[in-house]
Amino acid sequence: MELKVYNNYNDLSAAAAEIIIDCVKSKPDALLCFATGDTPKLAYQMVAEKVVKENIDFSKCFMIGLDEWMGISPENTGSCHWFLHEYLFKPVNIDLSQVHLFDAFAKDEEAECKKMNKLIAANGIDLMVVGVGMNGHIGFNEPGTDIESLAHVAILDETTKTVGQKYFRDKVSIEKGITVGLKQVMQAEKLLVMANGKKKAPVIKRVVEEHLNTDFPASLIQVHKNSLLMIDDEAASELKTETR
Ligand code: GLP
Repeated sequence: MELKVYNNYNDLSAAAAEIIIDCVKSKPDALLCFATGDTPKLAYQMVAEKVVKENIDFSKCFMIGLDEWMGISPENTGSCHWFLHEYLFKPVNIDLSQVHLFDAFAKDEEAECKKMNKLIAANGIDLMVVGVGMNGHIGFNEPGTDIESLAHVAILDETTKTVGQKYFRDKVSIEKGITVGLKQVMQAEKLLVMANGKKKAPVIKRVVEEHLNTDFPASLIQVHKNSLLMIDDEAASELKTETR
């Protein structure tokens, strides 16, 4: 794992946007997997801005969503679906045929997961962009998730349910999430993990300095073959000097 610390959220986002664009430039038909949340929002906006301004061709790549809240409508502004369309797909002019997102209302959860697994197995994820939850989750790979897991429906951790309310205008009941699995995260060709802000400082300390353990899933990125942890100064503030 490589660690890069940036002066602020803006610099961090600009660097992440650059990596996303470079990935598509070097492999136009790349498969990209995107997280949602506060962390990558600015990076996606920067990608969109640059793609439009510089007329970069994103018409051959394919994009999948990392996760989704089960039972939350795609029209709800707190859904991962809405987020990716609003900040990335629409502004970049991505055709719907280039996108696959989990269906939050899938009656057959197993079949829904299989669809995603098939897609990933056929192409392999070239670039995965993720954030880290306050409990160390990646996607909805909650503490205790099997390292061999593929796409699955997860019962959400209390922390995830509480923190997750921040995305919604009105209080919602969020009990389950559907997510790409830890094995698929670990198999991505390149894994970009982002974190910013003071509140993520204790989380990042554990990601970097704790021994690998599935009780804190993000610690696994230490042994990913090609992971880059990109954080701002605030998120790095609790790291030991020797790990920075
Ligand atoms: C959320 C999402 C993740 C996201 C993470 C961090 O619950 N399921 O995909 O990366 O938690 O969110 P944020 O960037 O808002 O801190």
